[in-house]
Amino acid sequence: MDKRTFLKSAGLLGVGSMLGSGSLVELFGSVKEVPSAVLAEDEDFWKQVRAGYLLNPDIINLENGYYCILPQKSLESLIKHIRDINYQGSYYMRTVQFENKKAMAAKLAALAGCPPEELILTRNTTESLDIIISGFDWKTGDEAVMAEQDYPSMLNMFKQVAARHGVVNKMVSVPNHPASDEEIVNLYASAITEKTRLLMVCHMINLTGQILPVRKICDMAHSRGVQVMVDGAHAFSHFRFTIPELDCDYYGSSLHKWLSVPLGSGILYVKQKHIRNIWPLIGSGESNPDNILRLNQIGTHPAYTDLTVADALDAYNVIGAERKETRLRYLQHYWTDKVRKLPHVILNTPEDPERSCAIGNVGVKNLKPGELGDMLFKKYKIYCAPIDGAGVHGCRISPNVYTSTEELDVLVKALRELG
Ligand SMILES: Cc1ncc(COP(=O)(O)O)c(C=O)c1O
Repeated sequence: MDKRTFLKSAGLLGVGSMLGSGSLVELFGSVKEVPSAVLAEDEDFWKQVRAGYLLNPDIINLENGYYCILPQKSLESLIKHIRDINYQGSYYMRTVQFENKKAMAAKLAALAGCPPEELILTRNTTESLDIIISGFDWKTGDEAVMAEQDYPSMLNMFKQVAARHGVVNKMVSVPNHPASDEEIVNLYASAITEKTRLLMVCHMINLTGQILPVRKICDMAHSRGVQVMVDGAHAFSHFRFTIPELDCDYYGSSLHKWLSVPLGSGILYVKQKHIRNIWPLIGSGESNPDNILRLNQIGTHPAYTDLTVADALDAYNVIGAERKETRLRYLQHYWTDKVRKLPHVILNTPEDPERSCAIGNVGVKNLKPGELGDMLFKKYKIYCAPIDGAGVHGCRISPNVYTSTEELDVLVKALRELG
């Protein structure tokens, strides 16, 4: 088989990449003229989207923040890619594997709005951001700024570079209900000194779903000579933005979260001028210091996951970024607006629609988050993520587009009854 024929069979060219989204195309084509805010509330419409998923009837899955399960058609595409690669064997791995991976990264760069030379496909946010933290050219006494609400995998790597290189880590604590962007910017600014070299900030805090004013933080940090690394694990393909408009130096995300790529897929963005200054986590044979592929050595890995990126992107593009974001924000406000004023309920997510999207976090007075999570699961079949630390005491609730308001009504009923 020649290379072109094989690329085609791997679903990379033309209509091949539309595999698996045919019925979605028709469905969304029928509502082209409907404003996204109107569509977001149309349960009959979203029921048809839901029909594209195989959902476990024994649970109400309100923990999509860990991993967004694949719609059946993406799952079928994944299985097809596994079959294709298994059929081609080493021939695939030794011929077009890397070209295909690069093609996937280029598609993701287009969605992120950045040049393809600045973005690579990784296995997850942990790998992406730990490449930067561990590979930064640290000198003893350098300082880094981060928040106690940041993700443990990154905080642990900062602890490691502190032990290894004598880096001093400065920790801020982000309030759950900030009064303004300036409050957050000033908080990060207050931790910067003349020795600060790198600041890590979450685009969306995973514990509460709070969206942080990343562009303003980048502007402030850059004015003081500090680089910014953004943890976008929950942001990419959840709500709309481009990486260049944030003007950050590094950005990492996990595609198995909101893009519904199979498990083990992520991106790393590095601003072109910094590529040569980062030490790869795994040694690479790439000799051009300005080539981002230097940072992309991982050895043999499940190459079919990479290929399914195209199918997930097709499905995402058919739904449309605006329609998805609007639906997700609608679902969060559907339940939070009903319980926010209940005296025994504590919402840990800001009310301002600009400061959150799908994810909300709720606590109940006199109940530990673990107890609340247990009760929600045992009595109401609701699966969610209890969180008890970093100033957040409550259960993280993360619906996806297929979540029905009927399911959220069960959550609202439970929260009322637990008072
Ligand atoms: C904010 C944040 N950063 C990083 C990660 C790590 O993602 P992964 O396990 O996909 O590397 C997560 C995972 O939930 C997260 O919520």
